[in-house]
Amino acid sequence: MNITVVGAGIIGCAVAHELASRGARVQIVDMRGTGRGATQASAGILAPHIEGHIDALLRLGACSLSLYDGFVARVSADARQTIEYERSGTLQVARDGREADELDAAARRLEAAGIEHRLMNGDEARRIEPALSSRIHAALLTPRHGYVKVLELTMALVAAAANHGATSTTATVRRVDARDNSVAVTTSAGIIEGDAVVLAAGSWTSGLAPSAASPPAVRPIRGQLLHLHFSHVPLSRVVWGADCYLVPWHDGSLLAGATVEDVGFDESATTAGVTHLLERSAELLTAVPDARFEAVRVGLRPATPDEVPLIGPSSTMRGVYYAAGHYRSGVLLAPLTAKLVADLVMDGRRAPELELVRPDRFGL
Ligand code: GLY
Repeated sequence: MNITVVGAGIIGCAVAHELASRGARVQIVDMRGTGRGATQASAGILAPHIEGHIDALLRLGACSLSLYDGFVARVSADARQTIEYERSGTLQVARDGREADELDAAARRLEAAGIEHRLMNGDEARRIEPALSSRIHAALLTPRHGYVKVLELTMALVAAAANHGATSTTATVRRVDARDNSVAVTTSAGIIEGDAVVLAAGSWTSGLAPSAASPPAVRPIRGQLLHLHFSHVPLSRVVWGADCYLVPWHDGSLLAGATVEDVGFDESATTAGVTHLLERSAELLTAVPDARFEAVRVGLRPATPDEVPLIGPSSTMRGVYYAAGHYRSGVLLAPLTAKLVADLVMDGRRAPELELVRPDRFGL
């Protein structure tokens, strides 16, 4: 089977790898190359029990997290590369009584769902994370959560897919046309004809698949993320506050994110965004002003109107499939999305989860 994957973000690359490893001949097309959209500004947090604020997202996220160990191991083996991936937990922190009440409520939900967790006071939190600010007076530890280094994973996915024969092209996709027995993708580098196309172009997906939907099925929501660096590793797990999260890497890097801004297709970093993140992160970790400032990263998260992704067949174009609109959960949902798409496209198997993410709910 010849399959074109449009989009080389974490979702497109995960789908391409899964399809190629099952024997498809895969071509990845992206206008800018690997991991240049929302992926480049993703902190890689794997925390469905924090970010799954909608039932469907919680169900999809928990399922995808359960696939993560095997996913990373397989990509790492296929790419012959190591990938920084830790299941060291998340520590949600509260700065005041209202935020502490929210942690109590979250702990009750985890208890009801049978998810391991531990509620603690500020001193207990500082015993496991000594660099936490004295402002923190309650915390909730969820040990099964974690993080992955996103660009490392995305590059490894491309290498792993290539080792299964996939190719990559940098070109702008102009249109997608379903023909009698094939699908044609017209790009700035020529026409690619194949048996199927997977649209995984993040915020740019709506432009490839015009529909009457208003607002568009996928729209960009900007996120700015700081990359700081410490001479020592400042934290041993992801710390999540109400206005800011922190992700420590093995090399002393710390990601601090993120803004959520509805500003259209504007990928600029702003002084307001950087100031906000520096101030909010210093409330959690007092050493932030001592860190080296490495970079600010900016990405446009692909948001759908109900914040649930679009995964499955187009209802208007035969041979066209969507894997888009993952908004704030693309990295977490990558293994599940890749599996759902490959099961569907290659084996015609419709997993029950596809009912939660049907593209035709927005006329696609
Ligand atoms: N998932 C983290 C974010 O969207 O900022």
